[in-house]
Amino acid sequence: MGEKIRLDRFLADMGKGSRSQVKEAARKGRVRVNGQVERKTDRKVEPGFDQVLFDGCEVRYCTWEYYLLNKPQGVVSATEDGRHRTVVELLGPEGRKGLFPVGRLDIDTEGLLLLTNDGELAHRLLSPKKHVDKQYYALVSGRLARDAVEQAAAGMVLADGTKLLAAKLEILPGQGRRWHGGDGRGGLSAKGRTREEGQEEPCFTEIRLTLQEGKFHQVKRMVEALGGTVVYLKRLSMGPLKLEEGMRPGEYRRLTQEEVLLLKEWTGEG
Ligand code: URA
Repeated sequence: MGEKIRLDRFLADMGKGSRSQVKEAARKGRVRVNGQVERKTDRKVEPGFDQVLFDGCEVRYCTWEYYLLNKPQGVVSATEDGRHRTVVELLGPEGRKGLFPVGRLDIDTEGLLLLTNDGELAHRLLSPKKHVDKQYYALVSGRLARDAVEQAAAGMVLADGTKLLAAKLEILPGQGRRWHGGDGRGGLSAKGRTREEGQEEPCFTEIRLTLQEGKFHQVKRMVEALGGTVVYLKRLSMGPLKLEEGMRPGEYRRLTQEEVLLLKEWTGEG
């Protein structure tokens, strides 16, 4: 007999939600074990022996896998999508082991994305309570407010009332001359790079922004509120994980054991 684990852990580990979310799903009759609806998630199941269904689909338990991907533009942070290629598809055969992206990067954002099948770790990494830093590089067109750094540090409130945690904004030296783009154009549209006769020279600013949360389009909306427009966005790091300089968009690698341990330490699981 193999090792038995609790049903809530089994489902959470396989990315079906947090433990409380899967508990709630089971209460609603969405979970079956060996053909029977199971509402008690503290019961134990044996991976490979007991059959577990979630919303009618079989969930197979597998050991943890962790991949760091440099997400290219044009690919969606999802496991399935009717229209676009997904980050999971980029991983090829490894992607079929129940991996999912930890959080989302927009389709036009590049950079560090963690893929795993470790639902609990993913949940902790994304929790604003764990204060895991996510650092972004952005090329911004337009001029940011003079007190942009202070506004970000104070915790901004967006126009729709969304309250943000304090963030660290750094204005990098230079005016966006170092365009960073997978396609060599830095994601800038032709319009953004050309200047009509008599028009003012376009102004670009390079910034680094460190957030401890991941609200919808957060970087773009913050920059907009500060008076600019993001024309290129790349995630540089997440907690202890850093995107290596030499890693091209679309490249990926397994995390080392040390990196996995560091991630666990950062999120309070030692
Ligand atoms: N903030 C954004 O606006 N987009 C991303 O993809 C990530 C953070």
